[in-house]
Amino acid sequence: MSVKLKQAKETKKNKPLAVLLQQPDDASGYCRNQEEEAYVKRKLEENAEVVSINQYERMLYLIAPAHSKSGHLKKEHFRKIGYKLAQAARNEKLSSLYLYSSHKEDATDLMAVAEGLLLSLYQFNQYKSTQDSRAVLEILYLCSPKLDKVELEELEHVVAGTCYARDLVNEPAIALNAVLLGKSLKKAGKDAGFKVDVLGKDKIKALKMGGLLAVNAGSVDPPTFNVLEYKPANAINKKPYVLVGKGVTYDTGGLSLKPSGSMTIMKSDMGGAAAVAGLFTAVAKSKLPLYLVGLIPATDNRPGGNAITPGDVISISDGTTVEVLNTDAEGRLILADALVYAKKYKPELVIDLATLTGAAVMSLGKEGAAVMGNVDEAQMLALKEAGNQTYERLVEFPLWDEYRDQLKSDIADLKNIGGRMAGAITAGMFLKQFTDYPWIHLDIAGTAYLESPDHYKGKNGTGAGVRLLYQFFKSLAK
Ligand code: BES
Ligand code: ZN
Ligand code: ZN
Repeated sequence: MSVKLKQAKETKKNKPLAVLLQQPDDASGYCRNQEEEAYVKRKLEENAEVVSINQYERMLYLIAPAHSKSGHLKKEHFRKIGYKLAQAARNEKLSSLYLYSSHKEDATDLMAVAEGLLLSLYQFNQYKSTQDSRAVLEILYLCSPKLDKVELEELEHVVAGTCYARDLVNEPAIALNAVLLGKSLKKAGKDAGFKVDVLGKDKIKALKMGGLLAVNAGSVDPPTFNVLEYKPANAINKKPYVLVGKGVTYDTGGLSLKPSGSMTIMKSDMGGAAAVAGLFTAVAKSKLPLYLVGLIPATDNRPGGNAITPGDVISISDGTTVEVLNTDAEGRLILADALVYAKKYKPELVIDLATLTGAAVMSLGKEGAAVMGNVDEAQMLALKEAGNQTYERLVEFPLWDEYRDQLKSDIADLKNIGGRMAGAITAGMFLKQFTDYPWIHLDIAGTAYLESPDHYKGKNGTGAGVRLLYQFFKSLAK
């Protein structure tokens, strides 16, 4: 993240200022004359939530939400106001901005505006020959009687983690194969303070990770299996929380080739891996007292010379045989090896994140992720609550035993596809076969990548999963 976030005791004269009004009448305290007051009043009546006034020596932004909401809906509303403010700051080419709230009880609204604002300023422009001439804000000062320094730093780390995840997703496959992903993770670990082990093809063979090797068979580039570890001395858990991220750096579908229209966005098929990476940077920088392990199986999925063919039977690292009837259902194959690997940690909980199925996109679109698992209701509820708080909402799909029938193979233990129905669930059922611990699966196929802009989430890689999981782990660390 290029924008610096700072705490300010008071606002500065002549510097661009945005004020969260406690009530619309408070506007008069910031206006220079009756004309300005009348203008603000009219704009607020028209439901403009951010009113801009050019006061010559400074730009002034007066903020008042048009609707009264409460709880997490209010928080999201303020994030979206942050997005409007970011647009205004961009148009005016502001290099700094003071964001002020006089609220006496808490700084929740202010923090939400700041979050939305910072997330909206993200840009991915390393491949542009000419840079966007509109300057991006360099520094944001937050000013409130109730500001908490720790929360401020956390916000900075979570936004940076989200932006790192976005960068990884936006990076084209030519610049981010499995080996380069491993390198990026190593560097991120060094900078933030967590360990990264990048296992290469020989080690992957020795571990008999037949799922990862099968998906990689049609590729020129070797696979990697990346093991992240964050283990602070003050960790409150002995057994780790394990995060697994699907790291398909490009999904052509393999020999079950995707139609070109569905292939264009498939550099985003490592959105789960990106979320794990972004989460680790945020958790490590904020020094949450939790022991976390991250597992990222990574490869591209291509139809090259040795590519597996529909009908091939492969073995996952625990010996389970799988008849691969569609090479485009590759995510579950590499995740199976990672879920088996997770067993050796005797984990407290495993959460996997994967851009796994088109069926999840069909069900929920971009508005939420599908969640499944074998944990008790309280734990699921805690994650859903984190989903509401971050507005990365989750909808639970059932993993009823009956769905497993769709995965019966004539010649192997399992086949890798179910029927036409309930595709997100049969994918979840496939993964379940490889777990013997508390486990939650998040299908983020609809939320990891956007083809048209959506407020502060922007366009292209969204960093989905980072804010959600940070919030979840923060609630556990309390
Ligand atoms: N990576 C895709 C899922 C996907 C679809 C992600 C759309 C993001 C947007 C996955 O590997 C895939 O191709 N799944 C198939 C499975 C099917 C062959 C059983 C699908 O969902 O069509
Ligand atoms: Zn696929
Ligand atoms: Zn895929």
